[in-house]
Amino acid sequence: MANKIFAKKSLESVIAESAENEKGLQRTLSAGNLIALGIGAIIGAGLFVRTAAAAGEAAGPAVTLSFIIAAVGCAFAGLCYAEFAAMIPISGSAYAYSYVTMGELVAWIIGWALIMEYALGAATVAIAWSEYLNKLLGGAIPYEWCHSPFESFTDSAGVHHSGIMNIPALIILLLLTLLLIKGTKESALVNAIIVFIKVGIVLAFVGIGWQFIDPANHTPYLIPEGTAPVVDSAGKIITSYDGVFKHGWGGVLGGAAIVFFAFIGFDAVSTTAQEAKNPKRDMPIGILGSLVICTILYLLFGHVLTGVANWREFVDPEKGREASVTYAIAEYMTGYGWLATAVTVAILAGFSSVILVMLMGQSRVFYSMSNDGLIPKLFSDLHPKFHTPYKANWLLFIFVGLFSAFVPGYVAGDLTSFGTLFAFVLVSAGVWVMRVRRPDIPRPFRAPLVPFVSTMGVVVCLGMIIALDIQTLRVALGWMILGIVIYFAYSQKHSKLHK
Ligand code: ALA
Repeated sequence: MANKIFAKKSLESVIAESAENEKGLQRTLSAGNLIALGIGAIIGAGLFVRTAAAAGEAAGPAVTLSFIIAAVGCAFAGLCYAEFAAMIPISGSAYAYSYVTMGELVAWIIGWALIMEYALGAATVAIAWSEYLNKLLGGAIPYEWCHSPFESFTDSAGVHHSGIMNIPALIILLLLTLLLIKGTKESALVNAIIVFIKVGIVLAFVGIGWQFIDPANHTPYLIPEGTAPVVDSAGKIITSYDGVFKHGWGGVLGGAAIVFFAFIGFDAVSTTAQEAKNPKRDMPIGILGSLVICTILYLLFGHVLTGVANWREFVDPEKGREASVTYAIAEYMTGYGWLATAVTVAILAGFSSVILVMLMGQSRVFYSMSNDGLIPKLFSDLHPKFHTPYKANWLLFIFVGLFSAFVPGYVAGDLTSFGTLFAFVLVSAGVWVMRVRRPDIPRPFRAPLVPFVSTMGVVVCLGMIIALDIQTLRVALGWMILGIVIYFAYSQKHSKLHK
């Protein structure tokens, strides 16, 4: 039994598998497409919602430093992903790398954890998309039809409203599923258009906002110890700055944990390795290029946002706690009301591409797991004409759709971070394992300073996992136990490796 669960796929067989694409996925993605896919998955709620939250709750104007710390943490893992994705250009990403380095059970566990990252990530962002659409439409969608049954509220006339199902979330998921089935090339094109729009609007905000920066908002740069709490009109404390991670350098770290979510997604590029025209060269370009571009945009954005409005306003319910970016524009950038609407459009567009790439990533991980026999064959059936894993796309639509229609958004957000960080830890560790065990394999891209970089990848990401709240960790543990039960009940018996 032990030799079964630790059975590893040989690197040679995996490389051969990734090259065999005659009847499989088509190689249509260029380096530019891969960078755009990365940016498509990266810029979303993290930037537009969490930047202000991190500034207001923990880091103050030094949210820029929080971005740098989160980016460095991601860069360790990103370099390791780049080495693997160029060496083993197969669609399963972290799952496939673990199958070669740490054996079948670990691979299964990581594949199972990736469902939390990609499928739950897509569900969370679909729910946020629905919320912003309703905001753009001035609240025209009845509460009942854009919230889950677990949510309710009483309006100012005393009428009680209960959610029934989140229809807009289902609609966006359906549209993106249809696009993914139509083709990878088409999906990449739509993604590129969306990326163009959202990056354009981020740059417009930075360029126009720069002249409205009030240097007083940037001083002091770190939240000083003893800062008075923000209170609401009734005098109730909304945010206090007493905790270790709530002011000073500790606050910068606390801010980094909040904005980490903004970087999730660069790893999704690696799931498309089997569809890249020249994966050996372009995978590192796509993964690291999108990470670098987004980091620069994030720093500029954070600098301008905390310069235009004061960070304390971002937690004040009577000021910018809701929709902080549009608040800052409306309040301080006189004459640029249109930019507030443009930002909402960028948010909707941004969310759509995040969902698109997450769904794509998930179906590719399923494709690999199914090719290995660990999940049923229908997950790797390709459409006769479009050559996309259409059955996996439909099943994913049902799963993610049920989740986003009937479960509140806050349930899934932190689980997404857990799944991602867990994969980062194993990929970072795996790079080192492979360097020791198989130094002979050609590596088109080598992560620098291994084992320092890989060890740091493990340490930083483990640290961030520990910092997640206990409830998230409990749910994640439950999910993992369910996964292990399924492995022994089904996957191990159907594994092609054992046949
Ligand atoms: N990085 C993605 C976002 O911020 C998940 O929405």
